[in-house]
Amino acid sequence: MSPHKVEEPITKIPTHIAVIMDGNGRWAARRGLPRLAGHRAGTENLRRVFRACVEFGIQYLTLYAFSTENWGRPEDEVKGLMGILADVIDRETAELNKEGVRLRHIGRLERLDPLLRQKVLNAIQLTAHNDRLTVCLAFNYGGRDEMVCAVQRMIESGVAASAVNESLISNYLFTAGIPDPDLIIRTSGEMRMSNFLIWQGAYAEWYVTNTLWPDFDKEELRKAIVDYGRRERRFGLVVPVKKDQHPGDQ
Ligand code: FPP
Repeated sequence: MSPHKVEEPITKIPTHIAVIMDGNGRWAARRGLPRLAGHRAGTENLRRVFRACVEFGIQYLTLYAFSTENWGRPEDEVKGLMGILADVIDRETAELNKEGVRLRHIGRLERLDPLLRQKVLNAIQLTAHNDRLTVCLAFNYGGRDEMVCAVQRMIESGVAASAVNESLISNYLFTAGIPDPDLIIRTSGEMRMSNFLIWQGAYAEWYVTNTLWPDFDKEELRKAIVDYGRRERRFGLVVPVKKDQHPGDQ
């Protein structure tokens, strides 16, 4: 930032930010590098984004790291992304734990290699007592798959049709207990939901930036939060609704 530019102040802090980390492949292609180099670069900035979230007072950060559709990518890219998840857990968990970050996973762990699955479970257990920032890693996650899973579990539990309401459905989703996202950020300029938090994001504010994910930094996050502060959230009503008072609140 130029030394003469006055920073626009943050006026409202979202409780929950969710991010579609897009553009790793393009970042790599622009440099003549293989796609995996882009994913690795996309991992490098995770630490700075976690730090920035803690600094800004964000309580929940959800990251879309691997979708149910991503299994269809070339085998070496899928394998590489699995390896990156293992590396991130090995390298970052102790530090995240020290910084008071709690890790959660959303999606299905079943299809992952048992060793990787165990790594994820260990990290979740180790950090379970932390409350500074909850990082929800969406890995093998799909919004439609989440609904299928929720309906299956409801039927298995013998839930009566008359007992089904919005609050009950929320409680059967992978995100049970996590507040709905206030702000969803998508990098790289694409304007699609891509099967991400399709139930939870019903009233989320969207922020799309052309910045590719590996280049997304604290200043970019700040800009998104400042922009969020200018939005008038009405949740389908005619007057702005204060945080935690919207009709969907349970
Ligand atoms: C989308 O970019 C990105 C992904 C499918 C993977 C996101 C993964 C990371 C940022 C690495 C961090 C991983 C973990 C486990 C925390 P794209 O490949 O679709 O980019 P493109 O649209 O430019 O091709």
